[in-house]
Amino acid sequence: MRTDSSANTASSATKHSVRKAVIPAAGLGTRFIPATKAMPKEMLPVVDKPAIQYVVEEAVRAGLENVLMITGRNKRPLEDHFDGVPLLEQTLEKKGDHERLADVRRASELADIHYLRQGDAKGLGHAVLRGKLYVGGEPFAVLLGDDLIDEQDELLSRMIEVQAATGGSVVALIEVDPSEVSSYGCADIQAVEGEDYVKINELVEKPQPADAPSNLAIIGRYVLHPAVFDVLEETGPGRGGEIQLTDALQTLANSDAEGGGVYGVVFRGNRYDTGDKLSYLKAVVKLASERDDLGPDLRAWLKDFVQSGV
Ligand code: UTP
Repeated sequence: MRTDSSANTASSATKHSVRKAVIPAAGLGTRFIPATKAMPKEMLPVVDKPAIQYVVEEAVRAGLENVLMITGRNKRPLEDHFDGVPLLEQTLEKKGDHERLADVRRASELADIHYLRQGDAKGLGHAVLRGKLYVGGEPFAVLLGDDLIDEQDELLSRMIEVQAATGGSVVALIEVDPSEVSSYGCADIQAVEGEDYVKINELVEKPQPADAPSNLAIIGRYVLHPAVFDVLEETGPGRGGEIQLTDALQTLANSDAEGGGVYGVVFRGNRYDTGDKLSYLKAVVKLASERDDLGPDLRAWLKDFVQSGV
């Protein structure tokens, strides 16, 4: 691992504060079939809220209230969830059920959400490129609709600060077991003197463990310089025949032009891939066990369940 001291002197960096989030949610969700045959995986409930609502709430907490959701066929429930439901609201109001009424309204009042269909699901890079017109020339965040970050663990706001400091693009990294790298984009990094973030030398999409440059895996949060759009337009299909965001970021990592340079924030908190069955179950159990209304009973039951040796 080398040390880089040039990051702070990225004098040509464009320093806008980030205002917009793009949430790609057009994937087919094949890992969660049959649940996702007719329902978007982003609508799977994590305790009592669909996974996508946690993602939008995270964006809003980081100050991003302008959201573009990239959707596709079968994704209509996403739009419905963030829309008002007058009949349901009137019924709850008549009953005086203010708590549930607030829950119903919270989702529709959360953010200014726009929707755009991807067309063909040609990969994450292609989904992000669909956001070009909406985003314009500003740095922007990308939050994958099936990746859930525990709200007690701050990540996005630090990434936004690192983007402003470096003028490049920023990815979120986690340490994974070497046997798991083939499920992720994987990063070769160097330290940045005096900083808690790292510079990315190389990114490889879903490498075999023997070819992986490290055990640092990219997760579904990005803060990107708009230069990524021009690169994506030139990026052909990569692994799996899809247009890979990782390939475009690899090009940016090697670029000295404005918007070049890719940096990484290593995340050590709790993150769940709700598109993966086991990770989804862990998210439900963890978040439910922390809740005042469900936690005490659930934890007691879990203890008995484990002790019963099943
Ligand atoms: P995944 O790799 O999880 O693919 O996409 P997927 O199709 O959604 O799910 P599986 O692997 O078949 O179960 C990562 C993210 O990129 C989005 C997905 O919605 C998810 O948030 N994506 C992927 C798109 O928006 N469009 C695409 O063409 C591909």
